[in-house]
Amino acid sequence: MVVEIDHVRFAWITGQRDTLDITRMEIAAGERVFVEGPSGSGKSTLFSMLGGVVCPREGTVRVLGTDISRMPAGKRDRFCADHIGFVFQMFNLVPYLSLIDNVVLPCRFSLRRFERARTRSRSPEAKAHRLLARLGLEPTELHGGRTVAELSIGQQQRVAIARGLIGAPELILADEPTSALDEGTRERFLEVLSESSMRSGRLPAWPCSTSHCWSASQSSPASSACICRSPCLDLRTGGSFRR
Ligand SMILES: Nc1ncnc2c1ncn2[C@@H]1O[C@H](COP(=O)(O)OP(=O)(O)OP(=O)(O)O)[C@@H](O)[C@H]1O
Ligand SMILES: [Mg+2]
Repeated sequence: MVVEIDHVRFAWITGQRDTLDITRMEIAAGERVFVEGPSGSGKSTLFSMLGGVVCPREGTVRVLGTDISRMPAGKRDRFCADHIGFVFQMFNLVPYLSLIDNVVLPCRFSLRRFERARTRSRSPEAKAHRLLARLGLEPTELHGGRTVAELSIGQQQRVAIARGLIGAPELILADEPTSALDEGTRERFLEVLSESSMRSGRLPAWPCSTSHCWSASQSSPASSACICRSPCLDLRTGGSFRR
C-alpha cells in the first residue's frame, strides 16, 4: 500500500471539533484517487496530513509502509521530501526565485529526487525545462529572468505542478491541481503525469481534489477503501480512474 490511514482524528485547535475522523483509508500503488468534498470539508487538511505537514492526534498514517505520524519532525521532513510530490492548492511558490529554481527545489532537499531527475535528463534543471515545456510554458516564459511572481495564475499553477512531479516521487498529492488551467493544459497535465509514471515503471497514487477537476465524471467505481466519519464533511474517495 502507498497510503494506509487507520483510525485517524485530527483537530486544528485542541478541544475543538475534529476536522478529520477517518476510520480507514487505503490507496494502492498505481491508483489515482480523487478526494471529493465541499469547501471547508477537510480535503487540504487531509493532504497536509498525508504530506507530513500536520500529524493526527490519534491513529496512524502510513506512507509506503512507514508510519509518518510517529516520526521525529526532521526525519519526517526528509522522508516526505524523498517520496512525496506536493502540488499545493495555493501553489506556495518562492516569489523571488526563477521558474526553473522553483521547479528544482525538491531536488535541493532530496538527493534521491535529485539523482532521479539527473538520471532521466542531463540535470534537474534540464528536467525542469522539459516538464514546463510539456505543460505548455514556452521558452519565452522560461527564460529572460522572469520570477514566478510575474506569471499569470495558470502559469504559476503549471510551475507548481512541475515541482510536484520532478524526481518521480512515489506519491503525488495534487490539491486542486487544475483549478486555474484551461482545458488543453489540463489534458497536458494528465498526459505528463501518465508519461512520467510509465517511464518510472510504477504509477504514483494521485489523490486530488475534484471540486474543480474536469476528470471527476470519468471516474470508474471506487476501488480504494475509505471509511470516513468526519463530522462536517462529506469526504470520500471518488475511485481510481483511467483515461
Ligand atoms: N491552518 C489552519 N488553522 C486552523 N484551521 C484551519 C487551518 N486550515 C484549515 N482550517 C480549517 O479546517 C477546515 C477544513 O479546511 P480545508 O482547507 O482542509 O478545507 P477544503 O476541503 O480543502 O476546502 P476548499 O475546497 O475550500 O479548499 C476548515 O473549517 C478550515 O477553517
Ligand atoms: Mg482545499
